[in-house]
Amino acid sequence: MIEALGLSKRYGDVLAVDDVSFRAEAGEVVGFLGPNGAGKTTTMRLLTGFLPATEGTVRIAGHDIFEAPGLARRAIGYLPETPPLYPEMQVQSYLRYVARLKDVPRKRLRDAVERAMERTGLGELRRRSIGQLSKGFRQRVGIAQALVHEPEVLILDEPSVGLDPIQMREIRQLLRELADSGRDGAGQTIVLSTHLLGEVEAICCRVILLHAGRKVLDQPLSELTRDGGSLEDVFTRHTLREPLAAEAEAEGA
Ligand SMILES: Nc1ncnc2c1ncn2[C@@H]1O[C@H](COP(=O)(O)OP(=O)(O)O)[C@@H](O)[C@H]1O
Ligand SMILES: [Mg+2]
Repeated sequence: MIEALGLSKRYGDVLAVDDVSFRAEAGEVVGFLGPNGAGKTTTMRLLTGFLPATEGTVRIAGHDIFEAPGLARRAIGYLPETPPLYPEMQVQSYLRYVARLKDVPRKRLRDAVERAMERTGLGELRRRSIGQLSKGFRQRVGIAQALVHEPEVLILDEPSVGLDPIQMREIRQLLRELADSGRDGAGQTIVLSTHLLGEVEAICCRVILLHAGRKVLDQPLSELTRDGGSLEDVFTRHTLREPLAAEAEAEGA
């Protein structure tokens, strides 16, 4: 479970995240959708405690990210924009290293690494150096390091960015499988960001649309397109609203 209340982040004059609140329950797959600069990455850094918020609070699995950062972080798996991969390490030893960093008990280490490789389709490549993998498979390693300690919450920042269409389809398939196993089993909460509408449609059950740091929409996917409109129409309407309103005001003045 994720609970964000009144999150804001200011970088000097730029208000990158502006009063964002939302909840995501166990088993939910939420898409943060928005154009570049919308505030997706910054919001995820606030959720994971990588950045302190200027205002607002975050609770992960009931733990406040600032008051109980250890417990909160243990409940989070995070794929950052640039995953911290070591190109010279082999897949399996890297995942074992990450699992140890994340306090997976020694006797569960082997199973945890095995399961992470299985869930991300890396079993056959366990002895490969990360640097020798294709970008798509490196991204799988990034996802594997995020989930190796079986966190309740997975936060994935643009998991398919920079991939070719085939790799992108494979990563989407993988994310859908993770989402399904999350729903059936432990009920993992997954939040992923993307600027691609198709990705949200393919994977998510709920969309949070960010625009200029603000949450402009938060709805189940099924409701969004119920009246026959495409997701693209909805997206365009909401991301254009603010500048158009500003223009109208300027004209009126
Ligand atoms: N470290 C930073 N310093 C100053 N401004 C930043 C920094 N990181 C992001 N920003 C600004 O914050 C806004 C949101 O950026 P970001 O969260 O990266 O958006 P997204 O991930 O949706 O592309 C942008 O205007 C960006 O230029
Ligand atoms: Mg980003």
